[in-house]
Amino acid sequence: MIARSLIAGCGASLPPRVVTNDDLAKTVETNDEWITRRTGIRQRHIADEGMLTSHLATEAAQAALKDAAERSGVAPEDIGFVIVATTTPDNIFPATAVRVQAALGVGGFAFDVQAVCSGFVYALSIADNFIKNGQAKAGLVIGADTLSRIVDWQDRGTCVLFADGAGAVVLSATDKDNPRGILSTHLYSDGSFYDLLYVDGGPSSTESSGKIRMNGREVYRHAVQRMSEVTQEALEKNGMTPAELDWLVPHQANLRIMEACAERLSFPIEKVATAVTHHANTSAATIPLALAEMASDGRLKEGDMVIAPALGGGLTWGAAAFRW
Ligand code: UT7
Repeated sequence: MIARSLIAGCGASLPPRVVTNDDLAKTVETNDEWITRRTGIRQRHIADEGMLTSHLATEAAQAALKDAAERSGVAPEDIGFVIVATTTPDNIFPATAVRVQAALGVGGFAFDVQAVCSGFVYALSIADNFIKNGQAKAGLVIGADTLSRIVDWQDRGTCVLFADGAGAVVLSATDKDNPRGILSTHLYSDGSFYDLLYVDGGPSSTESSGKIRMNGREVYRHAVQRMSEVTQEALEKNGMTPAELDWLVPHQANLRIMEACAERLSFPIEKVATAVTHHANTSAATIPLALAEMASDGRLKEGDMVIAPALGGGLTWGAAAFRW
């Protein structure tokens, strides 16, 4: 068994169109002051008609492949799988991942993972196990969503929160003595909380694909509690204290949730990724988008210790601990 999978490269893709809080205030009863104060969100990217989840996923994957080739010497021929975490696939089937695989021209196998906002952490965990078991020597893990397609644009409680984007990482097998790479993953779900955050449609229940429905206050409460708990669990599993952590890169849903998690962990907010301010909540894409941004602006450095917790519909939650 190979001991570890290394994050060999990363990349991101955002639709060009930026929608500000003031833009939203023209179509729904809200205002910049409320959105900024309650969520930290100032703007979001929204895909124009015709721009699909697979387009964003492919662009992010291409950037990740380029980065992996330059930084780690991983070639597209090495890719053994493509996993796309998404709640907004191009079609009900086939998987968005197979469209991405074809667009990239890579081999191996491809499939989607559905764990809503925890999707990237779930996909990373699955990919890590494929690599550890020697089933592939490298692969792509992509978080991609066009949440704008399933938002109820009349519901001010949700439409100001969600947005579109994609982030991707290339994982590759590394020597067990390498201190860098994925150290542990921790996954949970509890379906009894199904109705706190769900889409009121789908092929087996209704004729339409439905819209997002959320009990914001309850999801908020669970997000703070469970993301803090699972981060603590990841720290303990790796014999670390919060002081040994360089970055907390939580799922980006609400700045206040992240501040509350940091406070519970006695962790400085300056070391918490806060891409939510300009990306909003892109579901499965938030963590890899934040990682790609922090890597490209130099904040995230080789060898940095990172924990990435997430919580989403299901409820699903989890965390990944890795050395960049
Ligand atoms: O990806 C994981 C899933 N999502 C999350 O993690 C989100 C979790 N929840 C949250 O982030 C927060 O609960 C929200 C941002 C959704 C809401 O913030 P809140 O501080 O919990 O507000 P609230 O729902 O308690 O609403 C407070 C007031 C209400 O008015 P009344 O009833 O007090 O008169 C709402 O109607 O704010 C009102 N409100 C708004 N006002 C202006 C709700 N949305 C808006 C809005 N603009 N967009």
